[in-house]
Amino acid sequence: MAEIKSKIDKNSKIAVLCGGMSSEAEVSRRSGKGCFDALQRLGYKNAELVEVDKNIAQKLKDGKYDYAYNALHGKYGEDGCIQGVLEILKIPYTGCGVMSSAICMNKEYTKRILSTCKDIPMAKSAFVQKGENLEEKTANLKFPVITKPVSEGSSFGMTKVNTRNELQAAYQEAIKYNDDVLIEEFIEGFFVTVGVLEQDGENFATEILEIRPKNEWYDFEAKYTAGMSEFILPARINEELTKRTKDIAVKAHETAGCRGVSRVDFMISNDAIPYVIEINTSPGMTVTSDLPAQAKVMGISYDDLVQIILNGAGLNK
Ligand SMILES: Nc1ncnc2c1ncn2[C@@H]1O[C@H](COP(=O)(O)OP(=O)(O)O)[C@@H](O)[C@H]1O
Ligand SMILES: [Mg+2]
Repeated sequence: MAEIKSKIDKNSKIAVLCGGMSSEAEVSRRSGKGCFDALQRLGYKNAELVEVDKNIAQKLKDGKYDYAYNALHGKYGEDGCIQGVLEILKIPYTGCGVMSSAICMNKEYTKRILSTCKDIPMAKSAFVQKGENLEEKTANLKFPVITKPVSEGSSFGMTKVNTRNELQAAYQEAIKYNDDVLIEEFIEGFFVTVGVLEQDGENFATEILEIRPKNEWYDFEAKYTAGMSEFILPARINEELTKRTKDIAVKAHETAGCRGVSRVDFMISNDAIPYVIEINTSPGMTVTSDLPAQAKVMGISYDDLVQIILNGAGLNK
């Protein structure tokens, strides 16, 4: 990879937004600290870590920031809300804009948008909203299925359901989180995730990270317990499938209107079809997160990655 040039004045005052009001606030603080340290090393001496709370608009106004670097995850930080505040304040910010952030926070609306592009495979699914009949809506699905609250993360509220008579209990678990539930056919295969970055107006995919959980699927325990998952980078897939998966990741990012950075999650079936399962519009940036690891194996250091993301500030119009 060629040297990453800065497109942002080194004297700029940059607010690194972290923390916030989501269940992922603590992870976000670690992402924010990593990005802040990198900005310091890159020579942005006027970068500041800014904790997000309900007074964020005032803090940003008083701080007279030139840019915002978004290191928030989850509700209010990854769903278009903070992006809306930054639009109103006219502060250019990194990553995805209001619309793509809002769409990708909702797994059903992501599928609806991506289905406008015929080249993006997705698991067959049913969407059950409050008051709708679970049996009727899922009548055409083949078991096993996986039930998901429509806008959660970290595998919260999700269940693998092997037979129809277990469906009602799994649905009840999901509606503890959201009224609306996405029910997808379970793809037998393995999980991979691909970063998408933007440079000089061109989107490109990172290396593919394969994650083999010790559990049956990548559930909360597998995600957050050391030693419960095996990380394989680059993924053990052939060149053709690698290219196909990367192309689909970029296509999904573009179809959803993402800008700057995202991370696209896939299940690759045993017959080698890469099914898109979701797009993360503000992927983890802790020093041990997936995206920095994916970038590193292609020669993009953590600091280079932060510079690439910062260079995208303000492009998300
Ligand atoms: N249709 C599916 N078939 C098989 N496994 C799935 C499917 N959807 C999700 N999973 C598993 O569940 C995990 C979490 O799903 P995902 O939709 O990415 O939710 P989250 O937002 O919590 O990360 C995935 O990493 C994968 O292991
Ligand atoms: Mg995921």
